Amino acid sequence: MPPPSLVVAIDGPTASGKGTLARRLARHLGFAHLDSGLLYRAVGLGLLRVGKDPADRAAAAEMARSLDPSGLADPELRSERTGHAASVVAAVPEVRGALLDFQRRFAASPPGGARGVVIDGRDIGTVVCPTADAKIFLDAGVEQRAARREKELRQRGAAIIEGAVLRDLQERDARDRNRAVAPLVRAGDAFVLDTTDMDADQAFREALAYIGSRGFGGPGGPAAEM
Ligand code: CDP
Repeated sequence: MPPPSLVVAIDGPTASGKGTLARRLARHLGFAHLDSGLLYRAVGLGLLRVGKDPADRAAAAEMARSLDPSGLADPELRSERTGHAASVVAAVPEVRGALLDFQRRFAASPPGGARGVVIDGRDIGTVVCPTADAKIFLDAGVEQRAARREKELRQRGAAIIEGAVLRDLQERDARDRNRAVAPLVRAGDAFVLDTTDMDADQAFREALAYIGSRGFGGPGGPAAEM
């Protein structure tokens, strides 16, 4: 039997930089990476594509149950419209239940035989992998997160409406924190990393120092990404 895989859980609000940090840590450690937000985005996008309302709970649950994880590279998954739909379907308990198994299997058997996984999301350290070997709660002030998101959108050539990104972020924060099932909360044993005044390099160094303190911060081999 191979040893159980090591799990790094990264949770935090929208646009806190989880994706960038998780990818970088996974590459450094030689772990597989799962961006769990992509699963919710795929459910939201699937509904939009067949003309269904993301708030239609039965349709959302059905879409989650039949999700094909091989479609997670679609660039449309990253759009703001999809992100909005994702945050609506993420409040449906049946959707969360259907996606839980996939995430736990990924954590237990990382693709490519990697010795561990980095999973980022909202409830990884609290619900999906409560016994994770390292837990990071990544945060940053809402104004700072909005500024980062605007910069990212501009780089992608998207049009920005003054104030709209901040409003959307506040709306998503409220939905993530207030939903009945698996709301965004910090796990009691998570390392809190507030990146309001940090750049991506500093955040990476701080996270790595914490992971080192958990006993496995050294670099590893190549790994899979999702
Ligand atoms: O961070 P960002 O809002 O850009 O998006 P994301 O991490 O791709 O997640 C999209 C949406 O899925 C979020 O608004 C959350 O509501 C939801 N989500 C979740 O509920 N649980 C997760 N583990 C990951 C994402």
